[in-house]
Amino acid sequence: MGIVFGLTIMKVKTPKFRVRSATFETINVTSPSFHMKMYAEIGVKNPNFGPYKFHNTTVNFYYGETLFGSANIPKSKAGLKTTKKFNVTVDLIAPTSLASNSQFANEVSSGLLPLRSQSNLSGKVELMLIMKKKKSIQMNCTMNVNIKSQQLQDLNCN
Ligand SMILES: *[C@@H]1O[C@H](CO)[C@@H](O)[C@H](O)[C@H]1NC(C)=O
Ligand SMILES: *[C@@H]1O[C@H](CO)[C@@H](O)[C@H](O)[C@H]1NC(C)=O
Ligand SMILES: *[C@@H]1O[C@H](CO)[C@@H](O)[C@H](O)[C@H]1NC(C)=O
Ligand SMILES: *[C@@H]1O[C@H](CO)[C@@H](O)[C@H](O)[C@H]1NC(C)=O
Ligand SMILES: *[C@@H]1O[C@H](CO)[C@@H](O)[C@H](O)[C@H]1NC(C)=O
Repeated sequence: MGIVFGLTIMKVKTPKFRVRSATFETINVTSPSFHMKMYAEIGVKNPNFGPYKFHNTTVNFYYGETLFGSANIPKSKAGLKTTKKFNVTVDLIAPTSLASNSQFANEVSSGLLPLRSQSNLSGKVELMLIMKKKKSIQMNCTMNVNIKSQQLQDLNCN
């Protein structure tokens, strides 16, 4: 009994790092300008029986391969079996290099802008106060910004 329980709680599971939700404020989406403020909640979900301590990191938001904005996540920890949540504000701005991109113009006028978020998080899971296991995880989410309703839709993280 004791051994089985011990093995179960000693097994290190991979935490999850993802965008949980977001709302937006429109600053200027008159083509070729695109500037929306994103108010996002980002979470680090720790499934382990001990805390996951992680370093600070940056979450980048891309349209295709083009960086639109980023958010800083401070170093912190997610307690055992909990999700540490962060509220961040991100200015999503199209660089001028997209001014002549017709697909981008079409997507803005259709009202749905596809974005993806990526980040790397490194840290350690602590078990039984003594055992420390390094765990590095990635964020990889896709989503659509509904420009008119200023809501996030089709959020998918893997
Ligand atoms: C919004 O962007 C357009 C196109 O770049 C520009 O002409 C317009 O002045 C901007 N509007 C505001 C309120 O900044
Ligand atoms: C972490 O914070 C340090 C000091 O503030 C900063 O120099 C570094 O760029 C940050 N790292 C990331 C990945 O954001
Ligand atoms: C993030 O913001 C939402 C909405 O304002 C609020 O309900 C939530 O408690 C905030 N979360 C954190 C971790 O500050
Ligand atoms: C995450 O790390 C990979 C390589 O391990 C790198 O290609 C990628 O640019 C990093 N992403 C961010 C947002 O730093
Ligand atoms: C991110 O997820 C997409 C599928 O949703 C996949 O094609 C892509 O390879 C993933 N990228 C990374 C860096 O894991």
